Order: sequence, then structure tokens, then C-alpha cells
Amino acid sequence: MSATKKLFVKTYGCQMNVYDSQRMQDVLAPLGYQPVDDAAGADMVILNTCHIREKAAEKVFSDLGRIRKHKKAKEANGTDKMIVAVAGCVAQAEGAELMRREPMVDMVFGPQTYHRLPEMVARANRAIGRDRIIDTDFPAEEKFDHLPQQVSRQGYSAFLAIQEGCDKFCTFCVVPYTRGAEYSRPGMDVVNEARQLVGKGTREITLLGQNVNAYHGEASNGGEWTLGRLLRELSEIDGLDRIRYTTSHPRDVDGDLIAAHRDLPKLMPFLHLPIQAGSDRVLQAMNRKHDGASYREIVAKLKDACPDLALSSDFIVGFPGESDKDFEDTMQMVRDITFIQAFSFKYSPRPGTPASAMELQVPEPVKTERIMRLQALLAEQQLEFNRNCLGREMDVLLERYGKLEGQLVGKSPYMQPVHVSGLPESSLGQIVRLKITEALPNSLGGELVDAPVQNRDSERKIA
Ligand code: 5AD
Ligand code: SF4
Repeated sequence: MSATKKLFVKTYGCQMNVYDSQRMQDVLAPLGYQPVDDAAGADMVILNTCHIREKAAEKVFSDLGRIRKHKKAKEANGTDKMIVAVAGCVAQAEGAELMRREPMVDMVFGPQTYHRLPEMVARANRAIGRDRIIDTDFPAEEKFDHLPQQVSRQGYSAFLAIQEGCDKFCTFCVVPYTRGAEYSRPGMDVVNEARQLVGKGTREITLLGQNVNAYHGEASNGGEWTLGRLLRELSEIDGLDRIRYTTSHPRDVDGDLIAAHRDLPKLMPFLHLPIQAGSDRVLQAMNRKHDGASYREIVAKLKDACPDLALSSDFIVGFPGESDKDFEDTMQMVRDITFIQAFSFKYSPRPGTPASAMELQVPEPVKTERIMRLQALLAEQQLEFNRNCLGREMDVLLERYGKLEGQLVGKSPYMQPVHVSGLPESSLGQIVRLKITEALPNSLGGELVDAPVQNRDSERKIA
């Protein structure tokens, strides 16, 4: 058993990075690395980075400035070392440049190689001050096959990566370049990991993938499972009460998936389905492979299958060439579909993507004006949905302590945080039925209706 070492991991960006950071900790645990909350004094610092928009990437460089000071302080006596590693999508996209700009970075590795971390760490420990390590391959062997079989405890709600990479090549997006080609994990690997998580106390699992509903993993009998089929298998796991998946592409919503929303009470009636824009011209320039009409059609089918389904989405405003009329199409789409939550971004040109070289880039002030209008409309819809929850009963998975004394916070089927007071601490990890008595823009408050819900079938009746 190695001596304990302190590992500080900072995660930027998407939930896939949150999952990856957790698995990096799993990989490093046998080497004696234990997670800590502060970079000061750590033996290893990993920044697990995001390249999706310019701001996210810039943040990494400013954080590295701070880490440089911690590293100097720790190594001042000449004996201690601090390995500084940059992982994730900035590492993948700008690894060599990063090494050049930041001489104190010891190690750079992309999202596909962190199963090789023990070897990299051993090399870095031997080589500090001399060799530096860069590993941004897309190795032929699959990362998931080389990660530890045991996953660590993750809490009542956990992420589980089932798919990685993307073959869609939307013209604004770096993911196909940083995460590589689409890959699906074998179905039984996913089921086994889910069982392990449930054995450690998890009650809700969110399946992750950059294009999660393109999932086509190897089936137990040699064929292939769609996401719909995988959801059915996961639904059979006793003790797993709630299942979600993200992020989906409208093109890949197939009959199996729609049927899963119809048939599986454990599948939460809340779906993140990015649309990006409402104008067909812009959607085409984005290479989204769907138009406004097909998005509306998919939503109609999903709601037919599951009438209480609600949607969230991603939007980009100010894509090159977006006219006032195009933007109005986006606003109209939002009015027609209604979203109960959303992420919206100003278009950010990313190096190496086709859209960054397009003519007619939209001026910053226009982007700002449009995003403000869009966000105001989306906030209105979110608040209206929250207000409509008043008086309803909802099943809430209690996950953590609230800010106030005696308060617990959980999640509704629609991912709304719900506060409740006066329940014993032992209610954490339970799904309780709450009557909603307070509706705020980003959260709800509730009161207990009866004892913890045992029968999951009741879950869907709330909406
Ligand atoms: N500019 C702005 N937003 C972007 N996204 C992806 N690439 C860009 C970009 N270049 C947004 C999309 C995507 C979400 C994860 O990030 O809306 O769905
Ligand atoms: Fe990026 Fe488009 Fe793939 Fe989503 S579907 S990860 S936006 S390329």
C-alpha cells in the first residue's frame, strides 16, 4: 500500500467531464491518491478542461496562473513535488500549445487516455523538471475496457457514461475533434456498472454520452442494443428508482426510445433535447441534420407516448449569417414548444470548426441583444412551469442538506431542486412525496404528504 498523497481535481464543463474526473480518481486511488478540496499543498493537480466555448478554455489559463504559485510554494524546499496535469478537451485540442505556454505543466492528456494515468504518473514522478508527458492519442484499445472494474460510491444520484464521441459534425462544435468518433460501451458493462452503483446506495442514474441516443452497444447475445433497449434492461434493476439520459440529438430519437418513454415508469419524464436554433436556414448551416418541422414532430410523438414529458434544450444565438428573421424563428419555436429549462449561448467561434471560417459573423452587440431576449422568454417559461407545480404532489429524491438549519434538498422528476424542512436526516437518500407550497425561478419548496414512497409506479402520476 502506497503512502497517502493528495489529489486535487478541478472539473470544467459538461457532466461527461464530471464522470471522467470521478474515474480518474478511481484510477489513481490504488497509487495512494486521495481527493482533497484545495490545490494548495496537493501532490497532484488535475484540471479536467472544457473546450466547447472560448470562455471555458480561457478560464483554464487563468486558473493555471494560480496553480503555478501553489506549485512554487510546495516545491520551495526542494523535496516536495506537485504534478500539474491538464486533462480533457483543452488538452486534446491545444496540448502542444499548452506545454509551450505553461512550462510548469508536467502532463497533458486527452479524454481518451486517462486509463493510462498510473503509468504517466510514475513517469512524471521520475522525470519532474526534465521530461514532460503529453498523451493526446485516440488509442485503438478502448479506454472503458482499461478502467478499474470497481466504481467508487457516488451518492444517491450518479452519472454513468455509456457512449462517447460524436459523428454528427455540427459546424460550430469541437466535440467530434476533441472526443473523437462515436463509441458505445457494451450493454452488459453498463448494466453491471449500474448494479454496482445501486449496491453502493445510488437510486438515480443519469446515462451520459455526447450523443447518448446514438447508443448502439453490443448486446448480451452478440447483437446490438439501442438506448431504448438498454433503458428497459436498466429498469429491471431492483433499487434503481430513476433513470435519465443526456445529451440527446433529435435525429436519433427512434421508435424504441419513444416506446421506452411510454412504458418505463422509472424513466423520468424530463428530456434535454438540444435544438440550437429555430430557423431552417440556420439549422442547415449548422449541419444539424434536422429542421424545425422534424423537431416539432419528434416532440409531438414523445408527448403522445408520455403526456407529462417536459423538455429542456440548448440554444446558440448569433450563428454566422443569423438574420433578425432567423432569430425570430427561434423565438417562435420557443413559444410554440415551451421549455421548462434551457441553456443558451452566444455563438463562439472555435478553432478548426467550419463555422469559425464562415462569412457574416454576427457582431457582439447583436448577439447580446438577442440572447437577452431569448433568455428572458426562457426564464418566463421556467417560472411559469414552476408556478404550475404549486399545489401538486411530487416525488422528490432527497440528496443533501439545505442552507437553513433542518432543511433538506432533493430533486423532482423534472430536475427542479426542492427544499423541505422538518424531516429527519435519515430521510436523505429517500424518495418522499411532497406537496409543493413554494415556487421560485430556480427551485421549489414543499411539505411532506406521507411516508417515503416505496412504489415507484406512483412516480409518474405527479405531473
Ligand atoms: N458556440 C456557442 N455554443 C456552443 N455550443 C457548442 N459549441 C458552441 C459554440 N461554438 C453549445 C451548444 C451545445 C452545448 C453543449 O454548447 O448549444 O448543445
Ligand atoms: Fe457537437 Fe453536434 Fe455532436 Fe452535439 S451533435 S456533440 S453539438 S457535433
